[in-house]
Amino acid sequence: MAGRTRWSARALLAALLASALLALFVSPARGRGGRDHGDWDEASRLPPLPPREDAARVARFVTHVCDWGALATISTLEAVRGRPFSDVLSLSDGPPGAGSGVPYFYLSPLQLSVSNLQENPYATLTMTLAQTNFCKKHGFDPQSPLCAHIMLSGTVTKVNETEVDIAKHSLFIRHPEMKTWPSSHNWFFAKLNITNIWVLDYFGGPKIVTPEEYYNVTVE
Ligand SMILES: *[C@@H]1O[C@H](CO)[C@@H](O)[C@H](O)[C@H]1NC(C)=O
Ligand SMILES: *[C@@H]1O[C@H](CO)[C@@H](O)[C@H](O)[C@H]1NC(C)=O
Ligand SMILES: *[C@@H]1O[C@H](CO)[C@@H](O)[C@H](O)[C@H]1NC(C)=O
Repeated sequence: MAGRTRWSARALLAALLASALLALFVSPARGRGGRDHGDWDEASRLPPLPPREDAARVARFVTHVCDWGALATISTLEAVRGRPFSDVLSLSDGPPGAGSGVPYFYLSPLQLSVSNLQENPYATLTMTLAQTNFCKKHGFDPQSPLCAHIMLSGTVTKVNETEVDIAKHSLFIRHPEMKTWPSSHNWFFAKLNITNIWVLDYFGGPKIVTPEEYYNVTVE
């Protein structure tokens, strides 16, 4: 009981502190009125975080500012067959300032994750603002919901011919090194076909966002 009370008090204090911090860095941007990149949060060098109550927008923000994510798949490795397994994958949802929300990947059959996906295409992608300097700059622990993080679940699918150009442009502009990755690895473009979204961006538990709400967000 005492433990619970202390937690709530701490949560309240953290919330107050967060609001104060948010006010500090949000108001100068508001003061200037615009939404262009000139309003990037000075401390973290990111565009301003969308209002935390707009979970769909926060999810799109996190996806867009992250250059990579941890993708969990079900392992096909003999030693851990059937168990969860996650690896770091570079990704992009579009050129800076023009995110589509679709996480695109450049994959090779030589990757452990890809072997797993060939047997079971279900996967969950986790991305967090801890990958940017936002959380450190604002003093948010990576596990704190104030350090906004999201889980996107779905299936990883190869993109079709018509979508290859978009995937390639999205990835190569943010990961120029990919252009020189050895062709012997048979790289191909893929995306996460999102079916479920969880957003942790404030106290009170994860928020559920539907793919419809997520893709409905318009980016200015
Ligand atoms: C390719 O994929 C896109 C996006 O999923 C879809 O809109 C389009 O209809 C597909 N094209 C073909 C030829 O299957
Ligand atoms: C994406 O997932 C939905 C829901 O499971 C499915 O209906 C659809 O066919 C999938 N699209 C692709 C390109 O795999
Ligand atoms: C899509 O966005 C419009 C405009 O912001 C909003 O009115 C509508 O409710 C949204 N629909 C969904 C499914 O989120």
